[in-house]
Amino acid sequence: MFSIDYLIKYINSAIDKIYYPSEPNGLYEPIKYTLSEGGKRLRPLLTLATCDALGGDIDGAKNQAIGVEIFHNFTLLHDDVMDKADIRRGKPTVHIKWDESTAILSGDAMLTLATQYMAKGDGTKTWDVLSLFNTTAMEVYQGQQYDMDFEKRLDVTVEEYIEMIRLKTSVLLGCACKLGAIMAGAFDSEQKAFYKFGEKLGLAFQLQDDYLDSFGDPDIFGKKIGGDILNDKKTWLLISALNEDLSGELKNLIGNTQIDSIEKIKRVKTIYSNLNLDNRCKNLMEQYVDEAIDALKTIGLNENDMKFFKDLAKGAIVRSN
Ligand code: IPE
Ligand code: IPE
Ligand code: MG
Ligand code: MG
Ligand code: MG
Repeated sequence: MFSIDYLIKYINSAIDKIYYPSEPNGLYEPIKYTLSEGGKRLRPLLTLATCDALGGDIDGAKNQAIGVEIFHNFTLLHDDVMDKADIRRGKPTVHIKWDESTAILSGDAMLTLATQYMAKGDGTKTWDVLSLFNTTAMEVYQGQQYDMDFEKRLDVTVEEYIEMIRLKTSVLLGCACKLGAIMAGAFDSEQKAFYKFGEKLGLAFQLQDDYLDSFGDPDIFGKKIGGDILNDKKTWLLISALNEDLSGELKNLIGNTQIDSIEKIKRVKTIYSNLNLDNRCKNLMEQYVDEAIDALKTIGLNENDMKFFKDLAKGAIVRSN
């Protein structure tokens, strides 16, 4: 199999070659800004690696890999408006650097661009690709709606949270893998196993994102620390703390607009640490990574390929950005 480094270079070079019309610049400049400013490229990496592991030629999955990364970046433009986030990847977000209208419209254009890339190919797999992509996109929007709805609720359960992150984050990782499997012409059982791998990995991945939002190093994470706390996001950390903090302090902090932001973040994080939730969150991530790896045991991958996906999955929960 190709190495992770090789596949990331491959995808970056493909993204650099995307053609944009020169006008109107106001529409395309924010797209170039977003796509060229890096990111981990996890989703296209999953597409290419899955294709490779299942015996496909990665050139044949290149357009779908580009498409899934453009779609992911589109969701971020809108997500940053919804989450009132000013910084991403260490740079001002599009709605701050330009304005909200720009983030909405350039985001729309990215969704269309993503669909166009998805549909490229000899036509034999287009229906399978587009139907998976459209189903996934709708699930992501459902997840994002639950994420916002939950901001206003105090009684969100861990089960509801897991379903919300499955929709907003995991299904796209599952989709990224399955796209690679489809383009490789893989068996249904292989497509399903890789979808499940991505889906379980996505749960661990979002748990780590939520963990880093409270406990990360802002210079490496590239986003403001404490954004989830200020938005009253019902993360696993907050839901667990609400269930276990018997002093009632946390309930008073949530929805409290009087308290200074820095003070609120500090007090909530102290509650998390006192309940050892930072470490317990790590345990839960490890469980989901194990489930992801188990999903691949149902198909006969060789030892080297299995190690590739094990390392990739384990890396996703020790990352700091
Ligand atoms: C951010 O995704 C949104 C989540 C689903 C957590 P990534 O952490 O993959 O973002 P980039 O593309 O690497 O910046
Ligand atoms: C984002 O979740 C999921 C999607 C963009 C669909 P977050 O809101 O936690 O992602 P970040 O932390 O802003 O990257
Ligand atoms: Mg969000
Ligand atoms: Mg966000
Ligand atoms: Mg986050």
